[in-house]
Amino acid sequence: MELKRRPRRLRANETIRSMVRENHIRIENLIYPMFVMPGEKQKVEVSSMPGVYNFSLDEFIIALKEVVELGVPAILLFGIPESKDSVGSGAYHEHGIVQQAVRLAKQHYPDLYVVTDVCLCEYTDHGHCGLIENGQILNDPTLKLLANTALSHAQAGADMVAPSDMMDGRVAAIRETLDKEGFSHIPIMAYSAKFASGFYGPFREAAGSTPQFGDRKTYQMDPANGDEAMLETELDIEEGADMIIVKPALSYGDIIYRTKQKYGIPLAAYNVSGEYAMVKAAAEKGWIDEKRIVMEALLSMKRAGADLLITYHALDVARWLREEI
Ligand code: PBG
Repeated sequence: MELKRRPRRLRANETIRSMVRENHIRIENLIYPMFVMPGEKQKVEVSSMPGVYNFSLDEFIIALKEVVELGVPAILLFGIPESKDSVGSGAYHEHGIVQQAVRLAKQHYPDLYVVTDVCLCEYTDHGHCGLIENGQILNDPTLKLLANTALSHAQAGADMVAPSDMMDGRVAAIRETLDKEGFSHIPIMAYSAKFASGFYGPFREAAGSTPQFGDRKTYQMDPANGDEAMLETELDIEEGADMIIVKPALSYGDIIYRTKQKYGIPLAAYNVSGEYAMVKAAAEKGWIDEKRIVMEALLSMKRAGADLLITYHALDVARWLREEI
């Protein structure tokens, strides 16, 4: 054969392969989601997410030590409140569980970058992400509560807020409130392309946030739609989002690719709870090589265009990356 082009030449050994490697996962890209709850000396494993825990605040601080020591730069905080009500007041209370956790985290680890999830569903007794009237999820009246939630997180010391509710106009409402109250320097990472996904199942167990009636399809996006994700992203950028999230990640590589190509804005892929659970379950059975699969999946998100990776595997990934050095 007179083949001029032989791509295999650059695959001959690990040295040349690593020299021409196009994408990398770095510890700096990782954001680790964590769940905090009231109580003391509690570290409860989420049954559908082995290795993921609900932490009381004292245990949370202990766990943070490892996060920091491994060099994972950022956490994404979720709260499980003492009690829930119809207006989700635990979400925006000055001494709510997330607000307490943020204060503590920044006190112990000022350089750890603390991102907070801004939503009502963990705090409402009906489990929806907004206020309810006659069985309808109200959009505009919810915005004020979301803005207050983001503000209370910023006041507690959060470095960045991440609205995940999917109400229309929430980025604008949050931006306006933060700016008015002296937090114009706090960035917003918007869950812009968030789909109504079956992959959130294990999270809802972790956060106790399953809707008590209906589903989230009137606010989260239809998994069949790609163009709509462009619209949501465009609106969030116009309203002031500094970064966007695509969620879930694994089945949404096209959305990561399209949003990154079109808007060129910093983008985080959220490797969600169900994606984590699938890998853990198969690995437990010995059916897959966990490390290999996790790294390959995360790499696919980077290849599609993600800058940051929000993943429950973050600590493992940090360990694996360190082993390689
Ligand atoms: C809150 C929220 C959810 C997730 C992140 N923020 C749940 C949902 O929308 O139902 C899911 C995260 C995951 O599955 O890992 N709205």
